[in-house]
Amino acid sequence: MTTLWVLFIFLNFDLLLQTGQCTKTSGQVLSITPNTQEQVEILKNVSTQYQTGLWQPVSPHNIKELTKVHLYVPGNSSETVRNLLQRHNITHEVMLPNADEIIKMQMRNDSGDPRSGSTFYYRYHTLEDIYDWINRTAHDYPDKVKAILVGSSYEKRPLYALKLSLNNRPNKKAMWIDCGIHAREWISPAFCLFFVHYSLSFYNINAEMTQILDNMDFYVLPVMNPDGYKYTWTKNRMWRKNRSPQKGTSCIGVDLNRNFDANWCTTGASPDPCTEIYCGPFPESEPESQAVANFLRSHKESIQIYLSIHSYSQMLIIPYSCTEDEAENHSELYEMVKTAADNIKRYYKNIYTYGAGAQIIYLAPGGSDDWAYNLGIKYSFTFELQDRGKYGFLLPPSDIQGACNEALLAVKTIALKVMEKPQAATSSRQAGPAA
Ligand SMILES: *[C@@H]1O[C@H](CO)[C@@H](O)[C@H](O)[C@H]1NC(C)=O
Ligand SMILES: *[C@@H]1O[C@H](CO)[C@@H](O)[C@H](O)[C@H]1NC(C)=O
Ligand SMILES: *[C@@H]1O[C@H](CO)[C@@H](O)[C@H](O)[C@H]1NC(C)=O
Ligand SMILES: *[C@@H]1O[C@H](CO)[C@@H](O)[C@H](O)[C@H]1NC(C)=O
Ligand SMILES: *[C@@H]1O[C@H](CO)[C@@H](O)[C@H](O)[C@H]1NC(C)=O
Ligand SMILES: *[C@@H]1O[C@H](CO)[C@@H](O)[C@H](O)[C@H]1NC(C)=O
Ligand SMILES: [Zn+2]
Repeated sequence: MTTLWVLFIFLNFDLLLQTGQCTKTSGQVLSITPNTQEQVEILKNVSTQYQTGLWQPVSPHNIKELTKVHLYVPGNSSETVRNLLQRHNITHEVMLPNADEIIKMQMRNDSGDPRSGSTFYYRYHTLEDIYDWINRTAHDYPDKVKAILVGSSYEKRPLYALKLSLNNRPNKKAMWIDCGIHAREWISPAFCLFFVHYSLSFYNINAEMTQILDNMDFYVLPVMNPDGYKYTWTKNRMWRKNRSPQKGTSCIGVDLNRNFDANWCTTGASPDPCTEIYCGPFPESEPESQAVANFLRSHKESIQIYLSIHSYSQMLIIPYSCTEDEAENHSELYEMVKTAADNIKRYYKNIYTYGAGAQIIYLAPGGSDDWAYNLGIKYSFTFELQDRGKYGFLLPPSDIQGACNEALLAVKTIALKVMEKPQAATSSRQAGPAA
C-alpha cells in the first residue's frame, strides 16, 4: 500500500511538472491493436469521436484486425477513451504519454539570429518565418535563386516555389520537390528548407551535389498548404487538409493529396467533407492543387522528376497509389527506390520500405505523384520521412537533421540514376562534375 501511495504521488508530481497544473492530463498517442472485427468497429467509432485524431491509418475505413492503429487522444478525453478500450478488452499501449509537451518543444524558437548558424535548419518554423526565409534566400542569392509565385491558397496566401539554378547551362532538366501538402507533417517543410540550404552551401563542395546541380535545376515549394500549416501552429496541431469551407456542411478542408485527377475519388478517398481524406467537389477544385498542377503542366518538358515529401513511416513510394495495377515504368522506378533505401540503410542504419503505394500502404487515389506520372513525368515519387511511429507527426527538433540527411541521400541517389538515363544526356552532361 505504501509503495502504491509513493507511486501515486510520483505520477502526479510528474504530471504537475509537465503541465503546471495537477488537474490537467496531457494529450497522448495510443498504439492500439484490434484483434476481432467487433473491436475494429469499436475502434472506428472511437477514432471519430472524443476529439481524437487518427494518425495511422489515415481513415477509420482502413482500420483492420491485427494492424496497429496510432491514435491521438486529447487530455480531457484520455480517461474516457482508455476506459472504453479496457472495457472491450482492446489491446493498447501509450505510445507518447506527453504529446502536449512535445508539441511545445516543437514550437520552441530559442535561437538568436536565425542566420547565425545551421541550427536554423534543425528547428521548426512558423509560416511567417518561412515566408521571411524565402524572401531572404532569394535576396541573398539573386543569381542562383528565384522565388516564383505559382499561385495562392484558399485564404490568399502566396505559394512561392524557389527555382535553384546554380549555373546557366542551356536546356537543363529539372526536378520538382513539394513539401507540406499535409499540414501536420512538419518535418516536410523542414526538409525543403534544409534541401535549399544544402544545395546552396554544398555546390562545388560536395561532388555528388555539384554533379546534380550542374545538370539539373530544382523547383522547391516549401509549403504547399500554407493555410493548413498556419492552422497547425495556431489552432490544431493535428490538422491535415487545407482550410477551404465546403458547401452544405460546417466541416472544413480538402485533402490536397486526394484532389488530383488520378482515379479521383475512387476507393481510398471519400466524398464526405467531414473525413480526413475528402477528395473535394471535383479534381483540382482547390487553389493549392490547381496551382501545382498548372505549373507542372506548363513545365512538363523540362521537369523530369517529381517528388512530394510527407511523413511519417519511412517509405519511398512509386506509382501507383490510385490503382492496384502496375505502372508501365514500375521496374525501373522500383530499382531506384530500392537503391535509395539500400543506401540509407548502409549509411544511416535506418530502414525504409519501398514500392508502389497501393501495394505497400493501401489505395489512395487523387495523389499528386500518380497524377504527375500520368502527365508524363515518369520519375515520380513520394517520400514518407521519419519516423516509424515513435513520435509520428511530433518528431522532435533533435531528429530533423537525421530525417533530412536520409531524405537527401535518397534524392541524390535518384537524381544521379535519372542522369544516367539516355534521355537525360541530351542536354549538356559533357562537362562533368565541377568539384
Ligand atoms: C458506433 O457508434 C454508433 C453511433 O454512435 C452506434 O450506433 C454503434 O452502435 C456504435 N458501434 C459500436 C460497435 O460501438
Ligand atoms: C477538450 O478540450 C478541447 C480544447 O482543449 C475542447 O475544445 C473540447 O471541447 C474539450 N472536450 C471536452 C469533452 O471537454
Ligand atoms: C474481456 O475479457 C474478460 C476476461 O477474459 C471477459 O470476462 C470479458 O467478457 C471480456 N469482455 C468483452 C467485452 O469481451
Ligand atoms: C524566432 O526567432 C527569430 C530570431 O530571433 C525571429 O526573427 C522570429 O520572428 C522568431 N519567430 C517566432 C515565431 O517567434
Ligand atoms: C521581401 O523583402 C523585401 C524587402 O526586404 C520587400 O520589399 C518584399 O516585398 C518582400 N517580398 C516578399 C514576397 O515578402
Ligand atoms: C516508361 O515505359 C515506356 C514503355 O515501356 C518507355 O517507352 C519509356 O521510355 C519509359 N520511360 C521511362 C522514363 O523510363
Ligand atoms: Zn502526407
